[in-house]
Amino acid sequence: MSIPKTNPNAPFNATRASHAVLTVKDLGASRAFYVDAIGLVVSDESTDALFLRGTEEACHHSLVLKRTDGAPACERVGLRVYTEEDLDKAKAHFDKAGLPVKWVEVPHQGRTLHVSDAVGTPLELCATMETRPRLTVQFEKFKGAAPGRLDHFQILAPEVPKACAFYLDLGFRLSEYICPDGGDEPLFVFMQRKGNPHDIVFANGAGPRFHHVAFTVAESHRLFQACDIAGALGFGRNLEHGPGRHGPGHALFVYFRDPDRHRIELFNTHYQMMDIENEPVRWDASYTRNRAWGLPPRRQWHFEASPFAGVAPRDPARKPDPFTLEKFLAEGA
Ligand SMILES: [Fe+2]
Repeated sequence: MSIPKTNPNAPFNATRASHAVLTVKDLGASRAFYVDAIGLVVSDESTDALFLRGTEEACHHSLVLKRTDGAPACERVGLRVYTEEDLDKAKAHFDKAGLPVKWVEVPHQGRTLHVSDAVGTPLELCATMETRPRLTVQFEKFKGAAPGRLDHFQILAPEVPKACAFYLDLGFRLSEYICPDGGDEPLFVFMQRKGNPHDIVFANGAGPRFHHVAFTVAESHRLFQACDIAGALGFGRNLEHGPGRHGPGHALFVYFRDPDRHRIELFNTHYQMMDIENEPVRWDASYTRNRAWGLPPRRQWHFEASPFAGVAPRDPARKPDPFTLEKFLAEGA
């Protein structure tokens, strides 16, 4: 496959990854994890929902947790568009493309559109939210890792090239991608609108399923602080991968699973990828075996993900065969 080109005349102006909506069994347990251990800030809460934001964020929420009596799932991932006019353009674009799209009412958000992308990922688009004070320098209110802002999502999907083509047609740019050694059909695509390497990432796997939401931390030591505090509060076993350094994106990272097994990444932010001459960076899948330092992720990091509510996952044509921690240990390397 040749990598598709970004559409320079995007049908509407999507600006960034915005928010994720997850369902959880026990809001109290989720609050202990996300607020006390991870350090997200509560914007609003009720007996049925918890609206969270990062310490730098003025938007009302970047993570919404809704109580469910059913199986925990991801309801939607959210994208921002620049103006109300862009929402109307998005509606017209998806109507023309034959994708079911509808206006919905969502608390604390302006007009909101629901649509699913080309591989079935449920999306939520809005131009505005209520605002709350940024806590950027209110250090006395910081907890846990004091995450700054939501940066990106990662989705597992069986048709990565199809997802890539869909978002590049919306004006997203490909920053990095991973192919099998010697092959040219991508296993991972990292796409962005806001000028750093990621807003939405797709990886080959049974899906669509929600792999993780990532929040920035301003200082690297906060990754270790998050581990220490999580451990002290009884969430030590929720640490899944890291601390370590990524290949694509190059960031230092740590991954946790929340009490419902949803996955969150904390990382120390990204480089700028804005100028038009920046070409996508290709990685061979073997980089995970040849990484400079650190351990590969355990198998579950590659294969476990949250279902999207009401969406049946499909298996990929190319069965994933990642280099895992289990393989690394079996080799005695
Ligand atoms: Fe990530």
